Amino acid sequence: MMMNYFGPTKLDAALIPKIAQQWGTPVYLHDQAYIENSCEQLLNMPNAYGLHVRYAMKANSDRTILRVVTNKGLDLDCSSVDEAARAHAAGIPYSRMMLTTQEVPAGEERAELESMIQAGLKYNVCSMTQFQLIAGFAKNNSVDLSIRVHPGAAGGGESATRDTGSEYSCFGVHLNDVPKVKAMADEQGLRFNQVHVHIGSGGDPEKWRENIDRELGFVKSYFPDATTVSFGGGLKVARMPGEKQADIASLGAYAKQRVEEFKAATGRELRMEIEPGTFVVANSGHIITRIIDKKLTNGMNFLIVDGGMELLTRPLLYGSEHPIAIVRQDGTLLSSEYDQRPTAGLKEFGIVGRCCESGDSVRLDKEGNIVPVLIVEPEIGDFVVIGGTGAYSESMSPENYNSHRKPGAVMKTKSGELVLIRKKQVREQLVQNELDVKL
Ligand SMILES: Cc1ncc(COP(=O)(O)O)c(C=O)c1O
Repeated sequence: MMMNYFGPTKLDAALIPKIAQQWGTPVYLHDQAYIENSCEQLLNMPNAYGLHVRYAMKANSDRTILRVVTNKGLDLDCSSVDEAARAHAAGIPYSRMMLTTQEVPAGEERAELESMIQAGLKYNVCSMTQFQLIAGFAKNNSVDLSIRVHPGAAGGGESATRDTGSEYSCFGVHLNDVPKVKAMADEQGLRFNQVHVHIGSGGDPEKWRENIDRELGFVKSYFPDATTVSFGGGLKVARMPGEKQADIASLGAYAKQRVEEFKAATGRELRMEIEPGTFVVANSGHIITRIIDKKLTNGMNFLIVDGGMELLTRPLLYGSEHPIAIVRQDGTLLSSEYDQRPTAGLKEFGIVGRCCESGDSVRLDKEGNIVPVLIVEPEIGDFVVIGGTGAYSESMSPENYNSHRKPGAVMKTKSGELVLIRKKQVREQLVQNELDVKL
């Protein structure tokens, strides 16, 4: 007899038909207790002279999630002026945000940026142009800046598309340009009191360690005013069984030792900052879809479900794997990839969404071929539950493709209550900004 719960949030399969009945499918599901627990793990990361944890809100920018995370004591890293404004609209003060952006805000957005900085937002300079444009304002308002440095060292991400340290990535002021920017800042009496590097997402923790050494090296050489050193986000989570999660305690212990050695060599006590997104929310999330059709080609058995790439684009974008659980309409768990249950009676199915797109599948290889998933054969009407979808799913998907409406989202609260945190889009929202032009 199989247990009826699965995954890192110990999700009870019996809840799946209940959620589907109340809010329909597809639907996103989050778990407050899981998110709070990951926040606590991060806040308890070993450190030498203080730790500041920011949540990279691009991972999931829903206001309820932002509130859960900030109520636990994390601040935010925002990747656009709009993201900062969005978090502010959720009730979070600008003084709890840093802006790390590729944007070069101009016009109205520039005015907005200035008022955000005046309200306490930390501006993380990510290019020479950004520095030149903010320098005068920073000087006149006695604002200390942060600087994102491109370390010029590859390998920090799980794939080339998530590596932000290589020569093919353009994030931050390149290490080669640092002396120039620093000289310009000195000339104007401006201080970089924070140095920041984010080498990529989900990479080998060893690369994270290497970055600590490299970053402390250039903090020592170029940034005598820095009081905070940010090692960025990118902490790997294990979505699939067999994957290894970043060990926060061990990475923290390493950072602590290095920061203490830095103090011994320089007399300077650096506060440490990190800004994970994935680690906070990825494994808190599931997508609940319903099987709407079955098809057989001469090559593959297919299950067609009512949500695919427009809800979760990571498999198509990166070849990322997400664990699958199959739940019957009566709420019994048929099979779960999280812990490879059961081991017998399994059959291969390509699991695909509703979009007219051959790559609309939950599992693809790096070349974009659909990879079958080993499951117990379900019926039309049963549920396919996709795990590890709390990060870079709702916030990143090509929503509204094929004019499918963005689904709602439900939070399982700490007390076990199920609460709708975002309504499903209504059809009018698909066209609300289109103008009725007759040509
Ligand atoms: C600047 C910056 N910080 C933090 C993150 C969060 O990365 P992760 O979700 O892998 O922790 C990202 C993600 O792309 C980022 O660009």
